[in-house]
Formats: sequence, structure tokens, C-alpha cells
Amino acid sequence: LREHEEFTKVKNIATIELGKYEIETWYFSPFPPEYNDCVKLFFCEFCLNFMKRKEQLQRHMRKCDLKHPPGDEIYRSGTLSMFEVDGKKNKVYAQNLCYLAKLFLDHKTLYYDVDLFLFYVLCECDDRGCHMVGYFSKEKHSEEAYNLACILTLPPYQRKGYGKFLIAFSYELSKKEGKVGTPERPLSDLGLLSYRGYWTRVLLDILKKHKGNISIKELSDMTAIKAEDILSTLQSLELIQYRKGQHVICADPKVLDRHLKAAGRGGLDVDVSKLIWTPYK
Ligand code: ACO
Ligand code: ZN
Repeated sequence: LREHEEFTKVKNIATIELGKYEIETWYFSPFPPEYNDCVKLFFCEFCLNFMKRKEQLQRHMRKCDLKHPPGDEIYRSGTLSMFEVDGKKNKVYAQNLCYLAKLFLDHKTLYYDVDLFLFYVLCECDDRGCHMVGYFSKEKHSEEAYNLACILTLPPYQRKGYGKFLIAFSYELSKKEGKVGTPERPLSDLGLLSYRGYWTRVLLDILKKHKGNISIKELSDMTAIKAEDILSTLQSLELIQYRKGQHVICADPKVLDRHLKAAGRGGLDVDVSKLIWTPYK
């Protein structure tokens, strides 16, 4: 499908079954033509192969031996695990993940070559296996300093802090690379809300603890958040003044406290000591 056709297409698949969940879809996703007549698809929650009928899925589950995403487990803390999947080594899985994700992502074209991407799949694990909660994708080499291409928390898991966990994780990877990063644009409304929330929390926490002046550059070095994103966040919090042609951070403790109260609790934190990862070469 060409891009234009893809965007004007109406939603085809109305619901999917994935693990113990039946999930209503949000947007059109360009499944292969033989699925055009389907209103419901049945996904294997581990290999993400999809089928037209429940019986096919049941048969598949008896012989599918995956119990977690393919690839390397690079993080484990309690019941949460993160797997890194190379789109080139696990092409079918990566393509299945893109088809699935597009059902919940509007203005993203996902079907560039999956070869060029790494997929970070977050799972809740129990004795039956590792159940996918969400994921983000990341270009192996980004010219534009993008550290995240697409992010998704599956609807049954939304609003529990997993989105911010995934965002925090993407910045931890950037810190290990010694680079600043930013998400690929455009952001969806929910994507922007989540990023704004993350940036706000991280920056307020540092400003609260820091004594004396601090520059945007220093904040960027500490957090791997791109300077423009720091500036726009602090501007929206009215913590920036423009003096003699320079943006200056004015962190009045009272203003900080007011914002911190409004920002709420951070939720799930990434425990960096449990991340075992080296940058892609
Ligand atoms: N209504 C209002 N605010 C919301 C909502 C909502 N439905 N969902 C999230 N937020 C805001 C809140 O501020 C929330 O923080 P709070 O709970 O402390 O108030 C913040 O976003 C983050 O919430 P999380 O629970 O950490 O995020 P979640 O796990 O729900 O995931 C995500 C956020 C990934 C954006 C999810 O909504 C999603 O998958 N949406 C569909 C796909 C999408 O739009 N992805 C982003 C596209 S842009 C890109 O990929 C670069
Ligand atoms: Zn399977």
C-alpha cells in the first residue's frame, strides 16, 4: 500500500485475542490481503503469529515452543523483563509486532525495513511465560539522534506506568551510548502526554536536589534528554527566563514544589543495576 491509501483506509480488524485478553483495536493496520475479510484475529502471545480462527490458534499453542520474545533478555527486576529483538535476526516476529502495533498507532508508517530496527519488548513474567505488556522500537543507527521510533503499551496495561517505564528505559540506553536522544516525530496525543510527564518528573527532581545554577546543557548531559526537549518542558512549566539573549533556568523552590505536587508519583522505575546491555555495533 502506498502511504496515502494506507492513511485513508478504514479500520478492518475490530478485535484481537492476545493471551488472556480480548482487545478492541483503534486503527487500521495493513495485514496481508488474505486477512481482509476478518473482523477478529487470534495472536499467539509469544511468537505473535496471527490466525483467523480460534481452533487454529489452539492447535498452534500446542506446538509453539516460545515462552518469551525471541532475542536477549537484557533486563530483569522482579516479574518485569525486557527483551531485545533484532529485526534482522527475527524478521517474522518483528513484522508481526509491527502489524499488531499499528492497530493502536495512528500516524506512523511502520513498515520500513524491520532489519534496521531493534525492538525492546517489555514483559510481565509468571510460571506460564513472559507476557508482552508493551514495546518500543529503535533504529540501529539514527541520523537524527532518535532514541525511540514507536512506543506502545497494550490497552489492558495502559495507565499503570509502563509507558513511562519504556520511555525511561530508552533514555537509559542513550546514557549507556553516551548520546542524547529524542523520540521520532510526530508524537500522538498520548505519546506527548507521556513524554511531557517523564521529562517534567526527571527535570524537576534534579532541579529540586541541585544547589546553585544549572544550565540546559548540564541537564542534557545528566539525563540524555535533548536540549530542545528540556527547553520546551521548562518553558511550559514557566521556569525559563530570557536574559541578554540567553535562556536561563529560574528554579524558584516554591514553584518547583507546586509543580512536583502536580506531577504525581513517578511509578515504575528502571533499576539501572539490572540492565545488562552494550550498544549495537
Ligand atoms: N488519558 C489521559 N492521560 C493519559 C492517558 C489517558 N488515557 N494515558 C496516559 N496518559 C498520560 C498521563 O499523564 C500519564 O501519567 P499519570 O498516569 O502519572 O498521570 C502518562 O501519560 C503516562 O502514563 P503511563 O501509564 O506511564 O503510560 P501508558 O502505559 O498508558 O503508555 C502510551 C503511554 C505508550 C503513549 C500509550 O498510551 C499507548 O500505547 N498509546 C497508543 C500508541 C501511541 O500513541 N504511542 C505513542 C506514539 S508517538 C511515538 O511512537 C514516538
Ligand atoms: Zn507461537
